[in-house]
Amino acid sequence: MHSDSPWACRDSGTGTPVVWIHGYPLSSAIYEPQEAIPGVRHIVPDLPGFGATPPPAGAMTIAAYAEGIVRIMDEKGIRSAVVAGLSMGGYIALAVARQSMERLCGLILIDTRELPDAPDARAKRLETIGAVRASGTASVVESMLPKMLTEETFRDDRAKGLAVRRIMESASVEGVIAALGAMAGRGDASDLLPRIEVPTLVVVGRDDAITPPADAERMRNAIPGAELVVLDRAAHLANFERPGEFNSAAARFLGRVEPRR
Ligand code: MLT
Repeated sequence: MHSDSPWACRDSGTGTPVVWIHGYPLSSAIYEPQEAIPGVRHIVPDLPGFGATPPPAGAMTIAAYAEGIVRIMDEKGIRSAVVAGLSMGGYIALAVARQSMERLCGLILIDTRELPDAPDARAKRLETIGAVRASGTASVVESMLPKMLTEETFRDDRAKGLAVRRIMESASVEGVIAALGAMAGRGDASDLLPRIEVPTLVVVGRDDAITPPADAERMRNAIPGAELVVLDRAAHLANFERPGEFNSAAARFLGRVEPRR
């Protein structure tokens, strides 16, 4: 597996470290609104082949992305952090928890799920890899973009819709293929949830059709003491679509997280 260090990574602010892991086919740009949350050291990487990080040299797994996240923490001398992940970023955050629970002091799971792909979804990913290899990422952008924000936001805030389109269009063919392969091959994290021993916030957009509120409720029920926030008028990119509401919930949650000594 290739994880290609170093990854591009923004590092701003002071306070409790939070590592924000983006989803697919996105980049660290989806977390720009969160970098305004005060009292936080924001660590915001681009996964290989997305944003400013060069593509991976070959196949990736969710575990390999998670190793890259821990490597960034090591490089920056961060002993423990809140790990926050949106969708594929959530799959990676759960893999960080599985590999290195002692490096977590909190977990934020955003529009994600613990379950692996069903066989038909896995087959579709493999089909998409073939299509992207043959014709590029445009079909991925066109099929996924409408699910990222609500129809109302696409209609009333065209700049936001365009910003998401630009982020998705910037994904490289190699990054998209590697992410599809990693997601298709990921395991079931259900067994991990009852063993999560850090404060956990689960956030979902009420209109998320990719990872709907039922996924978030199931994770909240399985993780000891987890808190669930369902954001109205938000789809898959709940943090980007409703940054005010998301940041209030995240800031409240972060206020009760203690970095491990
Ligand atoms: C994501 O937003 O990261 C993807 O939609 C996740 C997925 O396709 O499972």
